[in-house]
Amino acid sequence: MTNEVRHIYADADALAKAAAVELLGLALRAVSERGVFTLALAGGSTPRKLYTLLATDPAYADFPWKQTHFFFGDERHVAPTHLDSNYLMVSNTLLASNKIPLANVHRVRAELPDANMTAADYDVEMRSFFSAPSRFNNCPRFDVILLGMGPDGHTASLFPDTKALDEKERWVVANWVEKFNSFRITFTFPVLNSARTVMLLVAGADKTDMMQKVLGDDRTLATYPVQRVQPTDGTKIWMLDRAAAARISKTY
Ligand code: 6PG
Repeated sequence: MTNEVRHIYADADALAKAAAVELLGLALRAVSERGVFTLALAGGSTPRKLYTLLATDPAYADFPWKQTHFFFGDERHVAPTHLDSNYLMVSNTLLASNKIPLANVHRVRAELPDANMTAADYDVEMRSFFSAPSRFNNCPRFDVILLGMGPDGHTASLFPDTKALDEKERWVVANWVEKFNSFRITFTFPVLNSARTVMLLVAGADKTDMMQKVLGDDRTLATYPVQRVQPTDGTKIWMLDRAAAARISKTY
């Protein structure tokens, strides 16, 4: 059963601050209950502020960095030094604090020339980390998966009308995205929907239309990839700024 909540903040800074507070709380609880916190990071631009806050603001000094393992919900098929690399963005923000043991950072080896090999390699990495006790429905049970949403309703790299939308078995796949003329490496819905908590960070006026289609009163269900994120036994938290939420109501 999915517990779905939405929070609307004045702007992207307030959203990032609230997301940092929420993550700190979830991390400390996970570590006190299970000794470890597993977090999948989102790419794109919206989470940058959050990652920078966590890395630099003394308010988050209690973050259990050494007990936290970081994964990537999706990655562009480029080297980690490439400007489009989500790993590069994360290493310039979150990892810049040097508080995180590099062994706790599970990077996608997107520099491998064959995108399918990259995805298979990451699938193996995740299966070796998430042993049976930390699986749910034969999928990794992440404590938190951070996600964003594109103006087309995509999330992670699950874009409308792409093959990965129908994947039922594999945890990670290489998804061909015509408009980028490129592959993306992405978690699949079985993984997203096995998480304890999915946090969707959505900011900016370029998302207003899609937010209305996805969460508006006259929305149709499961039309857009982001709507198919429905944790089977978990919580879906929408964290929106006022611009993105301009045409939806504050509550369900
Ligand atoms: C990526 C992301 C992607 C992102 C959305 C929103 O690699 O691009 O994981 O799913 O979250 O495209 O991107 P912005 O935050 O830049 O609007």
